[in-house]
Amino acid sequence: MNILLIGGGGREHAIAWKLAQSKLCTQIFIAPGNPGTAEIGTNIDISVNDFETQKTFCLENKIEMVIVGPEDPLVNGIYDFFQQDDLNHIHIIGPSQHGAQLEGSKAFAKEFMMKMNIPTAKYKEFSLVGCQMSESGNISNLKPDTQHLSSDYNSGVAYIKNHSLPIVLKADGLAAGKGVVIAETHEDALLAFKEMLQENKFGKAGAKVVIEEFLTGIECSVFVLTDGVNYCLLPTAKDYKRIGEGDKGLNTGGMGAISPVPFANEIFMQKVITKIVEPTIKGLQQEKIIYKGFVFIGLIKVNDEPFVIEYNCRMGDPETEVVMPRLESDLVELLLKLKNNELAGAECSLSPKHAATVMLVSGGYPEDFEKGNVMTGFENCENSLLFHAGTKQTADGIVTNGGRVLAITSLADDLQTALKISKENAEKIQYEGKYYRKDIGWEFS
Ligand code: AMP
Ligand code: GLY
Repeated sequence: MNILLIGGGGREHAIAWKLAQSKLCTQIFIAPGNPGTAEIGTNIDISVNDFETQKTFCLENKIEMVIVGPEDPLVNGIYDFFQQDDLNHIHIIGPSQHGAQLEGSKAFAKEFMMKMNIPTAKYKEFSLVGCQMSESGNISNLKPDTQHLSSDYNSGVAYIKNHSLPIVLKADGLAAGKGVVIAETHEDALLAFKEMLQENKFGKAGAKVVIEEFLTGIECSVFVLTDGVNYCLLPTAKDYKRIGEGDKGLNTGGMGAISPVPFANEIFMQKVITKIVEPTIKGLQQEKIIYKGFVFIGLIKVNDEPFVIEYNCRMGDPETEVVMPRLESDLVELLLKLKNNELAGAECSLSPKHAATVMLVSGGYPEDFEKGNVMTGFENCENSLLFHAGTKQTADGIVTNGGRVLAITSLADDLQTALKISKENAEKIQYEGKYYRKDIGWEFS
């Protein structure tokens, strides 16, 4: 089978690595890919949102399966695009545009959770344009409880002033991971509210704002593979979002990850399944939402109870870099079952080993950083998987080409050993401005 994988980060390198192990996989093309995926398959220079060029490529190269890595093309409707007559023989992995709203609109996700009685933080949404979603057209399919809605900026201000602290503000749409503000004071919350709603800080993404209560607890991520009717659980993971050690400083795309998550034991996971995963899948059916792909559920454990912080309509990055190495089942075989709702009874076989990823980043990230610094030392790394995130092949060799540069994943019988191997190898990779967190997994040491 010829497979096209959309995306070009560490997540896609990890997925490509896993696909390549499948006996069903003949050729892998990655659009646009990176120097890491180039070692596994063929990179093609097509952007993730250029559906027309992807279509031509798929038809010319007899592609039978398309796997979508990032959220952008999913929210932009790539699944629906591939349903047209001359493409619908291709098996596309991802939710429909309607389903992708679980990530593309925080308000949609909150309404979905309220309707399905899925535990999440209490909230209200505010917008200057009322509750009409101008682009998706999907939100009207749900009938939200009107007490969550307000179209009045001033009532938002009043709501904030009377809200307990800290207070969480979320721009409704995709905002490259920057749309969430946790304000410690009412002044900060009011400023963030004004920036989002009145000053267009996030453009259209901030035209609606969800304001919710702050939940105190420890976070973890659950990954579900679903055909929209049946599901199987992939390994749990925890990522480390802050740039600084001890979880301090600015938010990043993710500085490292571990799997499994020590506190996500059987009792906790049973609650996650009955209170969150199953109502989510039932909700997709109830709302007639087509969803054949990954659901990434960001959870927080509050007094032993799981609450949903967010849904994503794709795999996480860098969580994928710890999840894929622990998945023993044939990924292509699992994905093939999605098309005809045959996932029922499919077990994801998982390795009992612990996986740990340490992310090497560029100096200055997540603010301004340099690109183009030559990287060396790859050949000295032993016993780790090196997943390229932001790198580029040049005449001088591989150079840095992004904030997050390289994910170093190790597997071992225990978490501490896995972390130790990843950190040892992190020392062996050299480039100007290299930075990484040495305390990934700190709560569990
Ligand atoms: P999100 O983009 O929704 O994942 O939010 C980014 C991060 O903000 C999450 O990973 C949490 O660490 C934090 N966060 C979001 N919502 C809440 C909440 N209601 N309570 C506490 N922390 C939150
Ligand atoms: N690591 C968080 C994300 O992929 O959204």
